[in-house]
Amino acid sequence: MSIEWDPGDRQFHLRNGQISLVLRVLEDGTLGQLHLGAAMPGGRSYRHLGPDPFPGFSNRVGSPVPLAYPTSGTGDFRIPALVAAAADGATSLALHYRDHRIVVGKPALSGLPSTYVEDAAEADTLEITLADELAGLDVDLRFTIFRDRPVIARSATIRNAGSRPAELRCAMSLSVDLPDGDWLMIGLAGAWARERHIAERRLVPGRQSASSTRGASSHEHNPFLALRRATTDESHGEAYSFSLVYSGNFLAEAEVDPYGTTRVRLGIEPTTFSWRLDPGAEFTTPEAIVVYSETGLGGLSDALHGLFRERLARGQWRDRPRPVLINNWEATYFDFDADRLVEIATTARDLGVELFVLDDGWFGARDDDTTSLGDWFVDRRKLPDGIEGVARRITDLGIGFGLWIEPEMVSQRSRLFEAHPDWAIGIPGRPRTESRQQLVLDMTRPEVVDHLTGVLTEVLGSAPIAYVKWDMNRNITEPYSPSLPPDRQGEFFHRYLLGVYELYRRLTTRFPEILFESCAGGGGRFDPGLLAFAPQAWTSDDTDAIERLKIQWGTSLAYPLSSMAAHVAAVPNHQVGRVTPLSTRAAVAFFGVLGYELDLTALSAKERGEIADQIAFYIGRRQLFQRGRFLRLESPYDGDRDHVAWMTVADDARQAVVGSYQILARADPGPGRLRLRGLDPLATYRVSTWPAGDDRPARANTGQRSGAELMAAGFVLDLDRQETVARGDFWARLFVLDAI
Ligand code: DGJ
Repeated sequence: MSIEWDPGDRQFHLRNGQISLVLRVLEDGTLGQLHLGAAMPGGRSYRHLGPDPFPGFSNRVGSPVPLAYPTSGTGDFRIPALVAAAADGATSLALHYRDHRIVVGKPALSGLPSTYVEDAAEADTLEITLADELAGLDVDLRFTIFRDRPVIARSATIRNAGSRPAELRCAMSLSVDLPDGDWLMIGLAGAWARERHIAERRLVPGRQSASSTRGASSHEHNPFLALRRATTDESHGEAYSFSLVYSGNFLAEAEVDPYGTTRVRLGIEPTTFSWRLDPGAEFTTPEAIVVYSETGLGGLSDALHGLFRERLARGQWRDRPRPVLINNWEATYFDFDADRLVEIATTARDLGVELFVLDDGWFGARDDDTTSLGDWFVDRRKLPDGIEGVARRITDLGIGFGLWIEPEMVSQRSRLFEAHPDWAIGIPGRPRTESRQQLVLDMTRPEVVDHLTGVLTEVLGSAPIAYVKWDMNRNITEPYSPSLPPDRQGEFFHRYLLGVYELYRRLTTRFPEILFESCAGGGGRFDPGLLAFAPQAWTSDDTDAIERLKIQWGTSLAYPLSSMAAHVAAVPNHQVGRVTPLSTRAAVAFFGVLGYELDLTALSAKERGEIADQIAFYIGRRQLFQRGRFLRLESPYDGDRDHVAWMTVADDARQAVVGSYQILARADPGPGRLRLRGLDPLATYRVSTWPAGDDRPARANTGQRSGAELMAAGFVLDLDRQETVARGDFWARLFVLDAI
């Protein structure tokens, strides 16, 4: 059992050799949090680590007592985890320990995605009940420690134990107090086509945060926050990460108080949230995941990748090799017919592609983005034999068939909108704000979720469909549902998400053999919540190889390779107009779930030959590219650098592939070394390069090298660098390592 309870000291210690969390019931009955971080020995008292508050709240006003789930109004002026208005309107809460339970395994969170165990021995869970008897509120705090991971999962259930309604105004999933403020805070920030760039700043006194109020986790910020020391790098030093298993409005916030301590809180964004709790009713927060690392940011990523890949993703596709696909979007946009699709699919099949994906434009009368969302019946002008007809023609080629849908949306020009204008989100009497000429369906309403379940079950059951891309192309405005009473409108955004999760749950349960990929105008909802349903996500609409270096690097901080869909697209690139070599586009897209998104029929025979070689190479090392340990070597965020590198290593370190990317060429670049990590120091590796036949500048680095040498001294980049001048910008080379 990795959870100790010492009744004498009233102390809990969750520990597994990689992480420790020490909680203690303080003298006044509040739940203190004495330590979260590096593992500490069990069987000891740590009460000296936590300042015991003087008896009586008035004597601890403003003092930084570290608390497990702080409230407001009773002397702690830092950011609270819980704010609730009791029946009398008072918002002061004082939560006191009532009892606790320690259970083997990890209970599921009803209606919400969460991490899980397959065997109860993988984790233990501590559930502590706190209560404010005057306010009539009980709070169950859950802390799960995984046996083999430096991870603690947290969530809270708040219950109205009184006899009159109360209102939740802020219900965080996690609050953590750290004893100093000497941290850099890392977020994943960006915009459409620039998602999840590393955004880093030193913590300063006061509050600093990342959040979304858009109804989706968003392109702009990700439900993720990390802290590192100034000296922490990819492989050394302390770091924490905090992830929210949620796909909607969130807040990730750090506050440094006047005493220099840091509080982090993570949960549903409070300004767009309230929840009425009737007597006996309860509210459960989404799950938050804490990781502690003593081996730098790489240690955080290792833990998150393993957890998300193995114990968040689920279903038949969790562990299966993901197919190499061709998507018709950037090849045809809305302009296609069945013959054109079959032509692209045939060419793709001949090159080794395993799955054809029919993107937007197959339904209603959708010749552009002004119409038909919601009308999930096939457009027979384009596909006279229906989805079934085109799917059969394509599966007869020997490859899979996949389909794009955007269930949550409706076009004003659609039969669905004509029949149910009130199903589109909006406030009666107020104009609806359009975006991409579409409106959002009110997923808080069970009849909308039921309708979508029906029509989509019909579509997905009508043909041999192996894959679904579930898109979401706009954010929510005028959040309001006429189906909710006025004092429940603050529940709208969370109820919307519960509707989305319910639809996902129904469709993934009904079609367990379908591989789901989530998408939101690219990576606008790339979050742990959706990874629980769709094991991969469309990383970004930006398919430019150079832009993707930053996007995939940033994404990899929190998310595994198996979750990142990455496509080779046409040049000039449709988002940035850049021209990069075909081999560079592939060398970036290999690190993830590879796809192609261009008109293969328009390429020269030489280019098609190159693509066939790329696919054969990728499939030969698919396990490594999709499920290997990903290590970041040279950052695209280092403004001084023109070179980026990363690598993936097999679990047993017998194989690895290193990606080495030149951005802008420099005159007289000088010597350089690229040191690797994660190899077996005792192994000897045969090193070759990719693309093949490109060995002149790489000669110094090919042949046999010991793991120890490659990590201590690395590859010599001098020749590569001189070659850069001749080759110009944007070229890439892979180093392929096989232990002998
Ligand atoms: C946005 C997605 O990110 C694209 O890949 C494509 O599916 C379009 N939507 C289609 O409308």
